[in-house]
Amino acid sequence: MKYDKTDIPSRYEQARKLPEETTKLWLETVSRYIPQGSIETIIDLGCGIGRFSKALADHFSAQIYGIDPSWKMLKEARGATLSTKVTFLRGSAEYIPLTDGLADLIFLSQVYHHIEDKKRAFLEIKRVLEADGFLCIRTSTIENLNTILYLRFFPPALKKDMEFLSSRNDIIDTVHSSGFKLKGHEIVRQKFANNLEEYCEKIKSRGLLDLVSITDEEFHDGLAKLEIYCKEQDTETDVLEELDFFIYTKV
Ligand SMILES: C[S@@+](CC[C@H](N)C(=O)[O-])C[C@H]1O[C@@H](n2cnc3c(N)ncnc32)[C@H](O)[C@@H]1O
Repeated sequence: MKYDKTDIPSRYEQARKLPEETTKLWLETVSRYIPQGSIETIIDLGCGIGRFSKALADHFSAQIYGIDPSWKMLKEARGATLSTKVTFLRGSAEYIPLTDGLADLIFLSQVYHHIEDKKRAFLEIKRVLEADGFLCIRTSTIENLNTILYLRFFPPALKKDMEFLSSRNDIIDTVHSSGFKLKGHEIVRQKFANNLEEYCEKIKSRGLLDLVSITDEEFHDGLAKLEIYCKEQDTETDVLEELDFFIYTKV
């Protein structure tokens, strides 16, 4: 499903805003594998509303290009990000509108499963990545879906995710056969909300693709069950979930 055919872009910030410490956790995770001072230009590929773009630019003191095929996502990104270090451009993983060898780091966050032509995308990624550059993939996988709280209450959304997402080994095999060497793989436990009330509000805003892909009835049924569950729990608990992180260099 294309984001421009939905109204997710206007709700994305509310649905997916990360606590500051979670953004920091990801920046630290990326940095652990990268020699200090080696990053001048970054591509946030499939940047969406630019959730990570400015944070990456500031953290690495780098110039960053946020690329996305969705006009609506880019409009939100441009409206939310005021920085001379960040440029948003329309493009896709399959067609990156930048010159060869430009980037020291390419960051793909929750985009891997959206790429229809992986073969072409990895050729493009190789083309724009500098010889010693890094490719980072931050993504949900089939294996980490059982750590995502709301999916317990929305079986039809879980079913869509199971069909849509890749397994860890699938990603490792695909990227390896596209000419990249795995430098590291971690399962990162991130805080997604500071408490259950905040969590319910995020889910209620229905800014996640799997929740848009189910019927209104299925959505309202799941939401009612999630709200009951949240009321019964200690509402002050952090809401944690796991994502996979892969980092690659070119072979
Ligand atoms: C779940 S959002 C992730 C946005 C952002 N990276 C983040 O973590 O907040 C997925 C994004 O991938 C974009 N996308 C879809 N197909 C793509 C493709 N073939 N190449 C690059 N981006 C794509 C969508 O338009 C959307 O903005």
